[in-house]
Amino acid sequence: MEEEKYSYDKIKDIADYIQSRTSQRPKLGIICGSGLGGLADLLTDTQEMDYTSIPGFPVTTVKGHGGKLVFGKLETVECVCMKGRFHFYEGYPIWKCAAPVQVMKLLGVKGLIVTNAAGGINSAKLNLGDLMLITDHINLVGVTGNNPLRGANDERFGPRFPATNAVYSKDLQEVFRKAADDQGLLSVVKEGTYLMASGPTYESPAELKWFKMIGADAVGMSTVPETVVASYCGMVVLGISLITNICIVDIESTDTPNHAEVLETANMRAKDLLNIVRLTVRWGQHLWNIEDK
Ligand code: HPA
Repeated sequence: MEEEKYSYDKIKDIADYIQSRTSQRPKLGIICGSGLGGLADLLTDTQEMDYTSIPGFPVTTVKGHGGKLVFGKLETVECVCMKGRFHFYEGYPIWKCAAPVQVMKLLGVKGLIVTNAAGGINSAKLNLGDLMLITDHINLVGVTGNNPLRGANDERFGPRFPATNAVYSKDLQEVFRKAADDQGLLSVVKEGTYLMASGPTYESPAELKWFKMIGADAVGMSTVPETVVASYCGMVVLGISLITNICIVDIESTDTPNHAEVLETANMRAKDLLNIVRLTVRWGQHLWNIEDK
């Protein structure tokens, strides 16, 4: 029997418990991708909570990746950062990958910044180390049956049939561009459509050709569950893919994609991304410092 999706009350219990342990009331949530966890280290006045110390919070099964929420200030903005996220390929049900976003919602979070490592499919447009603003996605895992919102709906989070044509905030993308320009990095900022595949296998050449044909610019194994749920919950969302490898579409190629390469590129660009995100947070806060409608 499939594990049942968390109810509103269960999420509320988790959020209430967290609020009983901290006086911080973040308006911004941050989820960091592979090799990009350094964002949490930028926070000041931090307070950390291991996932395992929060009754009911999903826990990571990966050894050595305990996972924790880090509360603190980035610039003057109160944030909550997930250090360690839940990937579908690890075996979690898809709704569980996004449940922390619902917890954030009940903590009062109104904006979400998500980063990931992704493979570049559109090689005419994307280079290694580029920062791709996610302007749209193909929820391949979702449209084939694993949508994070499948199952009972609670209108206190959002509507039964949410639209997904405005998941990614154009205003936040604009602020990110300005921030990148300030850092002299506008030339590595691109935009495109992110396709979520299940993983953990890297994609075969035939799959990559197919993804390209249907309009994907980059591919990864995360992010979409969280951004779909954040948008459904009424948050403003910024998604950024760091292009850590160029996908190998040629079946004759002897190169292989590998995790070491992904981490190496992520490390190379991590500091730049951190600086741009920091400025984006400073300059974009009016976009999520909004009262509920
Ligand atoms: N495919 C899927 N996920 C990824 C890749 C890739 O090439 N690179 C980083 N994450």
